Amino acid sequence: MSTNKDKLVIFDTTLRDGEQSPGASMTKEEKIRIARMLERMRVDVIEAGFAIASPGDFEAVQAVAEAVTESRICSLARAVNADIQRAGEALKKANASRIHTFIATSPIHMKYKLQMDPEDVLQQAVKAVSTARQFTDDVEFSLEDGSRSEPEFMYRIIEAVIAAGAGTINIPDTVGYGEPGEYGAMFRRVIENVPSSDKAIFSTHCHNDLGLAVANSLSAVMNGVRQVECTINGLGERAGNASLEEIVMAVQTRRDLYPVETGVDTSQIVPTSRMVSSVTGFPVQPNKAIVGANAFAHESGIHQDGVLKHRETYEIMRAEDVGWGQNRLVLGKHSGRAAVRARYEELGIEFSDSDEFQQVFQRFKDLADKKHEIFDEDLHSLVAESEAPVE
Ligand code: KIV
Ligand code: ZN
Repeated sequence: MSTNKDKLVIFDTTLRDGEQSPGASMTKEEKIRIARMLERMRVDVIEAGFAIASPGDFEAVQAVAEAVTESRICSLARAVNADIQRAGEALKKANASRIHTFIATSPIHMKYKLQMDPEDVLQQAVKAVSTARQFTDDVEFSLEDGSRSEPEFMYRIIEAVIAAGAGTINIPDTVGYGEPGEYGAMFRRVIENVPSSDKAIFSTHCHNDLGLAVANSLSAVMNGVRQVECTINGLGERAGNASLEEIVMAVQTRRDLYPVETGVDTSQIVPTSRMVSSVTGFPVQPNKAIVGANAFAHESGIHQDGVLKHRETYEIMRAEDVGWGQNRLVLGKHSGRAAVRARYEELGIEFSDSDEFQQVFQRFKDLADKKHEIFDEDLHSLVAESEAPVE
């Protein structure tokens, strides 16, 4: 994995954390189909599952590892021997593999969930990383509930796991409690206070409980993080994870702010989003950024007029760059003459004079008061009505 600071590693966890959305479980065949799309999109790392979770998950990780050659394939593993061995076995045939091992480091998780002392957690983390290194030279370590962990403890455990061979250090906002300024500053302090921080890539993994997963991830990138863990359509445990499409397009659209580049082929974003939606049965909300049906649709007459004159008046990205056919002017009661006339032109209909167009436009407005959206068939009918002899 490149340590070039300008490369932002895109780690997709749709098949693992995304699958943890209640009701989103996927078959092995479905995972292979999605993994192939992610590979075509040139995602760097695909977390294919949690090999020890079930025989089905083991087989799915194994099958994805065999089917995909261009992206690195990863399996999750708790910081225990059995998990790591199972992950290693599932990944045996991968062209490039990664074991992602984790243990919780926050006081509340260590005390109540793990019922372990911090020193024992640290020892277990180091042992897990060393064990994982016996299976692959690419090991990621996550400090679960990192955003609620004590800074001094994090510095020590991170230094220790880097020494044990972890190449990627992920500090997740497991419960979606983080706030962009605070979460970004945490990374800055970690990078400054861990002596070996330059030997690892730091990673963010944010949940969306407060709707801040993307904002927190981007703040992390601003503060030195060079891997983002994310999912298609923001799928994931509870309120979901940071959405891949929003992260990728944010750094691409605001190159002035983010000193990084992803290798993602953005034209594959919409087709992949649709595939994930159809496989999981989770619809994409129409106003979802980038991949929602309305993301590039303009309804207001003022906006439509502006876009027709110069697209960038109301569009910060090109629809075709993310895999939409083209932008879509939605015709409805807010639409003006320019948009209606332009659509008629696209349909090959011309008006002999402005009076004729004016009559059709008037009927368009009457109809638009009764209907949310005016479709091409409606436009044809409006013209047909105006051509019909008056009785
Ligand atoms: O949210 C989380 O902390 C996780 C870890 C396993 C990385 O999904
Ligand atoms: Zn997670």
